[in-house]
Amino acid sequence: MKITGSIREVRELVKEWKRQGLSVGLVPTMGYLHEGHKSLIDRAVAENDRVVVSDFVNPIQFGANEDLADYPRDIEADKRLCEAAGADLIFHPAPEEMYAPDFSTYVEMQQVSERLCGKSRPTHFRGVCTVVCKLFHIVNPDQAYFGQKDAQQLAVIRRMVRDLDLDIRIVGCPIVREADGLAKSSRNTYLNEEERKAALVLSKAIFHGEALAKGGERRPDVIADEMAKIIKAEPMARIDYVELVDADTICPLQKMQGRVLAAIAVFIGKTRLIDNFILEL
Ligand code: PAF
Repeated sequence: MKITGSIREVRELVKEWKRQGLSVGLVPTMGYLHEGHKSLIDRAVAENDRVVVSDFVNPIQFGANEDLADYPRDIEADKRLCEAAGADLIFHPAPEEMYAPDFSTYVEMQQVSERLCGKSRPTHFRGVCTVVCKLFHIVNPDQAYFGQKDAQQLAVIRRMVRDLDLDIRIVGCPIVREADGLAKSSRNTYLNEEERKAALVLSKAIFHGEALAKGGERRPDVIADEMAKIIKAEPMARIDYVELVDADTICPLQKMQGRVLAAIAVFIGKTRLIDNFILEL
């Protein structure tokens, strides 16, 4: 396995692979890889001849008061995980490689990116769309792999690919959880022992909401209220949002139909965590 920070080098390698008729999968990440990322890499390795993992903490998707400086990084551990999973290349650029000092072109999306996380993090999806669009142009993959844990991000990427006619298949992969239910996230490392226990209200709320919906409850507001009740019972938790929306448009639901996304964002202390479930009706 190779690692490079050079856009030119990635392009040359991928060009050579394509010349040989090989398919290329891309797994975009911000590093500090855990088993959730590993499940994406495993799937990419199974479905492609060559796999590129991008490992880049993208500064432009963090708001001014967010955790860019504190975001956990461990490139040596990432290398070991990628190598063991069978990836062929890690793209680990310096911020200067991705963003010229006078960088001034952004991919801006309306609608899908405006609610939920887009509301609490107004410039977040502009940063995500811009970097993912750049990565798609640099790596030129046939398929790209994203986690369902970031359900709105997945909807945003799918919309961008459709709207901008990008010739890339987007693959969404299931949420990976800790044994006790907490969804895997690089941000879980911010939690102290007490907060880690309190963070279980997220998965508890998700499992309860899912059970209600699967049991036949068809009132979105009732399911959201029941989930919120569980979270509010935990003194260390503060709700950012608990919402049921259409999984593709991220618009609020009047009725439970189609692909329903129940999504939550909750602060545990200073750490903002997200979780969700999707129900196909
Ligand atoms: O999901 C992430 O880790 C990031 O948002 C992504 C897609 C790698 C873009 O920086």
